[in-house]
Amino acid sequence: MFPIVEARFLAPDVKLFRIQAPRIARKRRAGQFVIIRIDQHGERIPLTIADSDRDGNITIIVQGVGKTTRWLNTLESGDSIRDVVGPLGEPSEVESFGTVVVIGGGVGTAIAYPTAVAMKQAGNRVISIIGARDRERLILQDAMQQTSDELHVMTDDGSAGTQGFVTDALDQMIQSGVVVDRVLAIGPVPMMRAVSAVTKPRQIPTIVSLNPIMVDGTGMCGGCRVLVGGRARFACVDGPEFDAHEVDFDVLMKRNNLYRDQEAEALREFNK
Ligand code: FAD
Ligand code: FES
Repeated sequence: MFPIVEARFLAPDVKLFRIQAPRIARKRRAGQFVIIRIDQHGERIPLTIADSDRDGNITIIVQGVGKTTRWLNTLESGDSIRDVVGPLGEPSEVESFGTVVVIGGGVGTAIAYPTAVAMKQAGNRVISIIGARDRERLILQDAMQQTSDELHVMTDDGSAGTQGFVTDALDQMIQSGVVVDRVLAIGPVPMMRAVSAVTKPRQIPTIVSLNPIMVDGTGMCGGCRVLVGGRARFACVDGPEFDAHEVDFDVLMKRNNLYRDQEAEALREFNK
């Protein structure tokens, strides 16, 4: 069992958990994730390790979108999670690239945060752009500010930062002459696709973190197959980060929608 030592909401439906998992906390690197199962009957779901500390805790940040994530978000400090397996996946490629733009959309900011920290520690100039529908849904603004040389905040309704999409800020930045050496974009698939469309014609290396359905997280079940550069890859062992300009986003969206009816049914049962 993995005890929860802290649990608090960062935004409506988005909750931060610190969980005692010393072995994972020691080994984890930016970009890696865990697969958790709340109890013996639970579904396995992947969640990024947003942070870790010297006391052996890992931080995960969870957006309640369906049955398991909403169930998880009812847990409090003092509760426990049955299984936490990890760290899984390839760590982010972190080097001294120069100027790195880190883009987080919605809960994608939590997934981008550890890599932003690692990029800064590697000596890069980190410019972060975070976006959300509105002020209430913005997360980790202070943490991103601390790890970035520059932070741009975008909201769809203009209730915080500048009104518009993260891609507007990126486009404007490039047009104003900022030389961008690398982009990391993590968020909803349409957002990652839009970022890729901005950087591809300018040949700016761009990395996205893919979110296909994962089951075992070890390359055995084939659930997380994605098409990258015309080749089938498993996001759990080959990724989750890939070259955005090579990703087939249509295939990713189609595969993620495969179980929509069953997911809606599971959520209806959970809400009863
Ligand atoms: P469901 O109703 O079952 O599904 C809702 C949607 O979530 C689905 O349409 C599907 O796209 C996705 N999903 C469902 N089951 C899975 C699954 N087993 N694996 C992957 N996606 C699934 N979310 C966060 O809030 N915070 C994170 O840090 C985070 N990190 C992730 C890291 C990786 C590598 C991946 C692949 C996904 C990550 N996610 C994260 C997404 C999270 O795993 C899904 O939101 C969660 O599995 C949904 O489960 P559910 O039962 O609540 O919802
Ligand atoms: Fe099973 Fe990746 S989750 S192969």
